[in-house]
Amino acid sequence: MPPVKGSYFLTWILISVFSTCVISFIPIDNYLIDCGSSGNTTVGARVFLGDANLPSKTLSTPKHIMASTDFNLAAFSEYPSLYQTARIFTSLSYYSFQIQQYGHHFIRLHFYPFVYQNYDLANAKFNVSTQDIMLLTDFQLKNISSPILKEYLVNITKDKLKVFFQPFSDLAFVNAIEVVSVPDTLIFDLASTINPVGQYTGLSTQALENVYRVNMGIPKVTPDNDTLWRTWVPDASFI
Ligand SMILES: *[C@@H]1O[C@H](CO)[C@@H](O)[C@H](O)[C@H]1NC(C)=O
Ligand SMILES: *[C@@H]1O[C@H](CO)[C@@H](O)[C@H](O)[C@H]1NC(C)=O
Ligand SMILES: *[C@@H]1O[C@H](CO)[C@@H](O)[C@H](O)[C@H]1NC(C)=O
Ligand SMILES: *[C@@H]1O[C@H](CO)[C@@H](O)[C@H](O)[C@H]1NC(C)=O
Ligand SMILES: *[C@@H]1O[C@H](CO)[C@@H](O)[C@H](O)[C@H]1NC(C)=O
Repeated sequence: MPPVKGSYFLTWILISVFSTCVISFIPIDNYLIDCGSSGNTTVGARVFLGDANLPSKTLSTPKHIMASTDFNLAAFSEYPSLYQTARIFTSLSYYSFQIQQYGHHFIRLHFYPFVYQNYDLANAKFNVSTQDIMLLTDFQLKNISSPILKEYLVNITKDKLKVFFQPFSDLAFVNAIEVVSVPDTLIFDLASTINPVGQYTGLSTQALENVYRVNMGIPKVTPDNDTLWRTWVPDASFI
């Protein structure tokens, strides 16, 4: 069973004008993991380490299943190689990350289902949680044509972050994981609410999930052109 249930997210819509003024930020914690891969994968300017070569305590799973596909997602993703491998979990499993600096971190989970041997990842149904927060419940990826990125902003105040995968019946999976330090000043404590109209204080104490991150005008901003490796989509489809 996952350690904590019933935590919730305050969802957050962030609409902002992307600034091309780039101040470089060096994250203290910077885990980039290509799950189910035995080699490292270069993604733009970053290198994702294959999880087969991580220290043995990083991944705890009863059965080691590394899935791969030849299918090339180049038409749907800037980083197709990240989605050509996946780690499959048939029972509760977790990754454990040593945290050097307490405070805000992005947890990014990358998903793209494919068929590997007798595993059809589109049939996966699972929960993902940390020790403290439920990130995804009853998560399924049926009829997906492009990769799905789930991004959370959490305040980590423990020496270890564990990310648990709990399949419902037979399988769960993940293609890549990022755990990256973020400047604590990124999110203000005070926000305006729309419905009801008002003010919300205490935003920095909540775990947040990215819903939309929109750049006014073009272009789409890809992780390599953002100081915190975020993706900003153009606003045309929202107007
Ligand atoms: C992957 O990168 C890490 C860190 O740079 C390095 O220690 C390791 O040897 C690399 N592994 C492979 C298989 O290239
Ligand atoms: C998936 O797509 C197919 C064809 O577009 C459709 O027939 C089917 O109902 C969809 N399944 C789900 C679960 O949405
Ligand atoms: C997934 O999370 C939900 C909500 O907390 C819980 O009801 C359910 O039992 C969990 N499923 C599994 C397989 O742990
Ligand atoms: C994270 O939580 C700790 C403990 O509650 C708190 O002291 C710290 O200010 C928080 N950090 C941020 C960036 O909110
Ligand atoms: C990202 O940066 C590269 C190199 O600087 C540039 O060629 C590319 O057009 C940029 N893309 C976006 C979406 O900003």
